[in-house]
Amino acid sequence: MSRPRISLVRLAQESIAEVLGTGDHAVDATAGNGHDTLFLAQTVGPAGRVTAFDIQPVALDATRRRLQEQDLLAPVRLVAAGHETMEEHIKAPIRAAMFNLGYLPGGDKTVTTRTDTSLRGLDAACRLLAPGGRISVMVYTGHPGGGEEHDAVLAFLKELGDNWRWQRANPDGIPAAAPQLFLLDLKLMGLKPTA
Ligand SMILES: C[S@@+](CC[C@H](N)C(=O)[O-])C[C@H]1O[C@@H](n2cnc3c(N)ncnc32)[C@H](O)[C@@H]1O
Repeated sequence: MSRPRISLVRLAQESIAEVLGTGDHAVDATAGNGHDTLFLAQTVGPAGRVTAFDIQPVALDATRRRLQEQDLLAPVRLVAAGHETMEEHIKAPIRAAMFNLGYLPGGDKTVTTRTDTSLRGLDAACRLLAPGGRISVMVYTGHPGGGEEHDAVLAFLKELGDNWRWQRANPDGIPAAAPQLFLLDLKLMGLKPTA
């Protein structure tokens, strides 16, 4: 019996949609061709905000075009900088962040995310995330440096404190060599009651 093909990109978006709503602030840490940025803009609506990072002008141009086609550019700020600079650009808590690591599909395969900057970006997103928020991280192991990046992300997750809950979200039947989707939740518990 053949299994239905499960899209991890879709699963990441559905998981983020569980915690993200109208008027929220979300981050696309790797804008790429803009699929996740568009999804985030649709989810937060005109009253929300999306901040999308990429180091390649070609990626930001593709993202801008995708948003313009759907008339959804207004809530989105496109930042031509690495996600490791996230805290220079965002000062308020965010509800969600999406990392889709690796190279730009259809673009220059030699320009990939790098372990050190990915970890710094992830660390920054963790500091910015509001309790109850969620971060998705998609890691590809098939390109040079991808395996190391995967192992470093896993080590980072294992060091997270008790306020965090994380899981590898790949459904059964996805081959081990496939991209890996991690979801990180900042728990609501442990918050001090306000006076
Ligand atoms: C797999 S693609 C992202 C796909 C995208 N989420 C989409 O929906 O089309 C990875 C992207 O990360 C970008 N990138 C690489 N290093 C980065 C960094 N330090 N900060 C932000 N983006 C980076 C690449 O330029 C590339 O466009």
